[in-house]
Amino acid sequence: MTNLHRMASKAAQWVVDKAMGSSLAQEETEATGTPEVFPGMPELARRTAAEGCVLLKNDGTLPLSPEGSVAVFGRCQLDWFFMGHGSGGDVHPPYTVNLMEGLSARNAIYDHVLAEIYQSWCATEENRAEPGWWGHWPTHYPEMPVNDNLARAASHNAQTAIVVLGRCAGESQDLKLKRGGYYLTNEERALIDTVTSAFEHTVIVLNTGNVIDLSWVESYGSRIGAVLLAWQGGMESGNAVADVLYGVVNPCGRLTSTFATSYNAYPSTNFGGKRKVEYSEGIFVGYRHFDSFAPAEVLYPFGYGLSYTSFGIEPLGLELHEQYAVARLRVTNTGPRAGREVVKLWCHPTKENLSKPERVLAGFGKTGEIAPYHREELQIVCDLKSIAFFDETTSSFVLDAGTYRFEANGTEMAGLVIPQKRILERCQPICVTSADRRALMLEHMPHELPPTTWLNANLTDVANGNLTLDEFVAQLTNDELQALMCGEGFMNSELGTPGNAGAFGGVSPELQQRAVPPIICADGPSGARLRRYCSLLPCATNLACTWDTELVRKLYTLAGSEVAQNGVDVLLAPGMNIQRNPLCGRNFEYFSEDPLLTGCMGAAVVQGIQEAGVSACPKHFACNNQELRRNTCDSRVSVRTLREVYLRGFEICVRTAKPDLIMTSYNKINGIWAHYHFDLVTLVLRGEWGFDGVVITDWWMRPARCPEFPALRNNAYRLRAGVDVLMPGTPKGARGISRGELQRTARAVLSLALKRMQIKNGS
Ligand code: BGC
Repeated sequence: MTNLHRMASKAAQWVVDKAMGSSLAQEETEATGTPEVFPGMPELARRTAAEGCVLLKNDGTLPLSPEGSVAVFGRCQLDWFFMGHGSGGDVHPPYTVNLMEGLSARNAIYDHVLAEIYQSWCATEENRAEPGWWGHWPTHYPEMPVNDNLARAASHNAQTAIVVLGRCAGESQDLKLKRGGYYLTNEERALIDTVTSAFEHTVIVLNTGNVIDLSWVESYGSRIGAVLLAWQGGMESGNAVADVLYGVVNPCGRLTSTFATSYNAYPSTNFGGKRKVEYSEGIFVGYRHFDSFAPAEVLYPFGYGLSYTSFGIEPLGLELHEQYAVARLRVTNTGPRAGREVVKLWCHPTKENLSKPERVLAGFGKTGEIAPYHREELQIVCDLKSIAFFDETTSSFVLDAGTYRFEANGTEMAGLVIPQKRILERCQPICVTSADRRALMLEHMPHELPPTTWLNANLTDVANGNLTLDEFVAQLTNDELQALMCGEGFMNSELGTPGNAGAFGGVSPELQQRAVPPIICADGPSGARLRRYCSLLPCATNLACTWDTELVRKLYTLAGSEVAQNGVDVLLAPGMNIQRNPLCGRNFEYFSEDPLLTGCMGAAVVQGIQEAGVSACPKHFACNNQELRRNTCDSRVSVRTLREVYLRGFEICVRTAKPDLIMTSYNKINGIWAHYHFDLVTLVLRGEWGFDGVVITDWWMRPARCPEFPALRNNAYRLRAGVDVLMPGTPKGARGISRGELQRTARAVLSLALKRMQIKNGS
């Protein structure tokens, strides 16, 4: 990069920073202080990253023998993508371990001559991996050309070649459907051609946050011995991948999204729409589509992943209860190495009335490490709602009568007979007409709290039990109430740890006088994004591929403790949108194409964070499934699809883990901005799922007039919809709403503030 380019890139960064509200130059976002390692984190982060690696192909080339020598190709051996770009990846880790460092730490024998060639090539000015700037980050780096002579020379020094390929997308930047994006570049293909011609054994290591084109693997036949999908494993990436390559960890990750034979095989054909995106595939997202209509177009299916050992499954029974079913199974390790197996319980629903997917994930479990030829029993619970369908005509989740076939990893279980059609849950109609919504909004108008006489009370009086929260809220002035419905106004609030994402709650002098503390937020899903050194965790897809909710919960309990130690109240995580299409820039922050797995993983993250005394904020509610024009685009989705797919993950997470907050998304959903969405926020989230926390916007919101009450705009419209806090906020008034509505929002914010005070005081 020339100096001119660098200056242009800095100028562009400044403009973007301005637009993002932070007005910070690049240097000002760098971490200060000394890089300290949070105790226990390296081990746990390493284990999780390793257990989330997915072995896609293996002819016995892996595991590598510690006595054998490897030659490592591909510049990402050094310029590893540890995380995706944007708010979900912008963490300052105390250290990172790339693949070469991971191999060295394991004392792996590798071709040093080749390693040095890569090192000096990557270090030269014109080849350096530049970081890019907001929305313009590199999705790949140009490869070092490798000719036949170099490859052949390396093959004299090593029996096995490793080729590392890297891809990275991010916030505001979907992956492109072109070479260097979804497809390999010509240079990458040339590298694989050359290496596989020179070596008898080649292992491909994929370092990516997105599903990318892998149709080329087949064309190399036995010239490619193994393919390991390493994702973006955070700061411990290199150690984790080395663990798997050398069999210290037996691969036990399984895919959480489908790799298809071609991009055109994916059903989400309208991805990338600029003003609106019709979700015309309906409920047939990911495997729901492929299993039902296009099994031949699957390269590596959802749930797929190899191990260095083999497993057998024996069904022990399937019992039906009122709201759930329980499957019992025995898993036997039938091979010579210890290992863990993921059991996916599949249900093939009866096909009455409606079109239904061929099969749905009904539950899952993961064994512990099973010694060779030993076994373990597992119980997998299936919530019947996961196998029901949503009937739009009656607005209810319905279980049709009939026989439901169940299988676990391809082994048939007994069928489940539902003698009579059952309504599992009646729900509120949503996405209704404006007239109906107006009536419902009026029905949900809160009453003003009766006035109290004690006027100088503060929040500590509530904490001490001298007055109730309602009594306290009742005495706040309208100005004080209004100050609670907007954040402080910008990112990197001076009230919190440098680099935070913003503050709300006690952000005005009047509220501070009443002892209301500011509530400090920080991104994000892969560790705290601050101007401090914090652990960089594996990306969410990597985590989900472990299928181990307990491990993920533990990781986030530790991450939560680190966040708490850094003075942050709210971690803006987990990201819970469905991976509708492989190109979505933030897929790395999301778990899966399946809502059950998404919900369970999201719940594990929330439980972990909140166990550590930090509040979690799942996001982006809902249908933020692409980054292109995410803040102008309308996601057009049928109610059935919303209920069964796009809301379901959030529902599972909210009902099981009770997050303290939830963040709405930028986009519209069926014509209404998510941050003004009364139906989703008031009727569904609070009304049906019992959410009693704080709903915040994603950073800034669109100005809009309320169609149901044309006198209401912006903040007033938002509040009537039930969205509490505009983040990071611009304290502007809300004209036209009642004092009761302001009090309702204030109550939500203050009960969180109270909870934060109590946690910090250890009570
Ligand atoms: C992102 C959120 C993030 C927020 C604060 C937004 O641009 O969409 O996920 O939490 O910024 O950084």
